[in-house]
Amino acid sequence: MEKVAINPPCSRAAVSFAIGILGLRRMRTATAVYPVVMANSTYEPIQIGSEDRVFVLTGAGVSAESGLRTFRDQGGLWEGHRVEEVATPEGWDEDPVRVWRFYSQRRRDARLAEPNPAHHALAALEEQLGERFFLCTQNVDDLHERSGSRRLAHMHGELFASRCEFHTVAGGAGPGHCDKGPFPDAALYESAEAIPRCACGGRIRPHIVWFGEIPLEMDRIQQEIDRCTVMLVVGTSGAVYPAANFVRWAGSLVRKYYIGPEAPMNAQAFTRLVLGNAGQVLPGLFKAK
Ligand code: APR
Repeated sequence: MEKVAINPPCSRAAVSFAIGILGLRRMRTATAVYPVVMANSTYEPIQIGSEDRVFVLTGAGVSAESGLRTFRDQGGLWEGHRVEEVATPEGWDEDPVRVWRFYSQRRRDARLAEPNPAHHALAALEEQLGERFFLCTQNVDDLHERSGSRRLAHMHGELFASRCEFHTVAGGAGPGHCDKGPFPDAALYESAEAIPRCACGGRIRPHIVWFGEIPLEMDRIQQEIDRCTVMLVVGTSGAVYPAANFVRWAGSLVRKYYIGPEAPMNAQAFTRLVLGNAGQVLPGLFKAK
């Protein structure tokens, strides 16, 4: 097993569950050492015993091989957009058309995308493990469901759902005087006239957790982290909280693996990094009972 040294990210804890960014840039110095295997080398598959419970966290990288852009990689979604303009409640108040154009384009892209071998490998693992498997995704696309995953939570919302801006979702986002919760919606809204109104007079907004809002299903996610024995984190830069802290919330006896082409910002919290593309690494990575 090869060892590499990369600095620990700054260890500021999430003050609350509201999503926030630790930093957009990775700084590397030689201060922390952790085990790394390269995907193109020979290494032991991850053994999943009959008593193990697996918690998986995925990020944008798991959908990269389906053709969907990540956020912070070169040419990523945030390179062409200011986060504050399209992914905050303030950006929505300022210009809902700009926000809907952004998410309409993402709906268009996601409609054309197909699940890749990484999604299929996770669905197959769920098939084997049943209720000993849980998948939490930061992704808002529906590629996990389309490959067959069922025991999953979309902590940052869903691209193909909308809700009234005055409906309060779990965690408290939204002023809360309307009952019109999330409903399936694949439509594109690209002008002020196109944005539908709720019966209460509110505008229909994307069912997405924006920066400063509270992620969804946190109680369920916390419970699953508490009882897992194996944690797999796939394709996420470890820059956005609270998800970047899940690896630290899990107990010290939990085996923690990261899979992606480069070390994430929270790399030093893992038992092992497997460096490679998820679609190449995940099929064949596990030996499950
Ligand atoms: N396989 C696995 N990982 C990959 C691949 C691949 N083929 N290609 C890229 N990656 C990795 C990159 O190395 C990077 O670490 O995916 C990660 C993508 O990181 P980000 O763009 O930061 O995306 P993510 O971590 O999912 O972002 C978290 O931030 O902007 C918000 O709400 C948004 O859910 C998102 C959250």
